[in-house]
Amino acid sequence: MSRIAYVNGRFVPKSQAVVHIEDRGYQLADAVYEVWALFDGKLADPEGHFARLERSLSELRIDMPMSRAALTAVLRETVRRNRIREGLVYLQVSRGVARRDHAFPTDPVPPAVIVTVSRVDRAATEARAAAGVAVITTPENRWGRCDIKTVGLLPNALAKQKAREAGAVEAWFVDELGLVTEGASSNAWILDAEGTLRTRDTQANILRGVTRLSLIDVAREAGLKVDERPFTPQEAAQAKEAFITGAGTLVLPVVKVDGHPVGDGRVGPVATKLRRLYIERARATAI
Ligand code: PDD
Repeated sequence: MSRIAYVNGRFVPKSQAVVHIEDRGYQLADAVYEVWALFDGKLADPEGHFARLERSLSELRIDMPMSRAALTAVLRETVRRNRIREGLVYLQVSRGVARRDHAFPTDPVPPAVIVTVSRVDRAATEARAAAGVAVITTPENRWGRCDIKTVGLLPNALAKQKAREAGAVEAWFVDELGLVTEGASSNAWILDAEGTLRTRDTQANILRGVTRLSLIDVAREAGLKVDERPFTPQEAAQAKEAFITGAGTLVLPVVKVDGHPVGDGRVGPVATKLRRLYIERARATAI
C-alpha cells in the first residue's frame, strides 16, 4: 500500500495528506496531471511524460512548479519512501489556492503539487493481458481540448463506470462521424484486416498518449506498418486484433468490442509481441 504522499514540499502520511478546500483543482478542475508506469522503482518513458506535463501546464498558463530535475527528485523520493518497485506514480499540479473565482487569481499564487505512488501486481496484469479484455463504445461528450491532460475527467469517469457495469474494462469514445477517438484512460488501436496497425491521429481531439508514441516506434522497429488513421467500432470488430495503450494498461489486448469478438475472439500474436517489446524497452529506458 502507498503510505506516503508528497504535498506542496512535504512528505506526509497519506491519511494526513490534505489540500486546501479552495484549491482550484478541487473546485474548477483547474489542474493537470501525469501518470508514469514504474518499473523496478524507475519512471518509464520519462521524456514523453515530462514534455507533455510542460505542454499541458503551458497551455493553461500555469508555471512549472519546479525544474524537471527537482521534480524528478521529488517523484523518486516519493517512490523510495513508499518502497514500491512496480506500480504507478501520480503527479497533479493545480493553479493553486485562491478565493473562488472562475478567472485566474489576480495576485499570483504558487501552483499546488501532489505526488502519490500505487503498487501494481504485475502477475495479475500479465494474466489479464493474456486473457484479453472487453471494451464498449460510448458517444464522445468531452470538451475540445482533450490534448491537455487535465483532471477534468468526469465524462471519462462516467464512461469507465458504464464499461464496468457492462463487464468491460474500457469505454471507447466515438465521435459524430462514427470514428473511435480514444478510451476513457487509454488510446485505442487495431490491427486491421490488411495487417496495418491503426490508431487515431493526434490532430484529433485526443490525448497524445506517451505509450502510444513509444509504441509507434517499437512497432515500426519490429517491421510493422503503422497508420495514424481512425477506425470505426465495426472495423474494430472485423479487425485481426485490437488493443489499448496507456501508462496503466501498457499494451492490453482487446478481444471484444460491444459484445462482438475481435478476430477469432482470442488474444492475437501481434498485441502479445508488442506488449512484450514495449515493456522490455520501457524497463531498459526507465530512469
Ligand atoms: N491515462 N487517453 C486518455 C484519455 C488517458 O487518460 C490516458 C492515460 C491515455 C494514455 O496516455 P499515456 O500512454 O500517456 O498514459 C490516453 C492515465 C494512465 C490515467 O488517467 O490514469
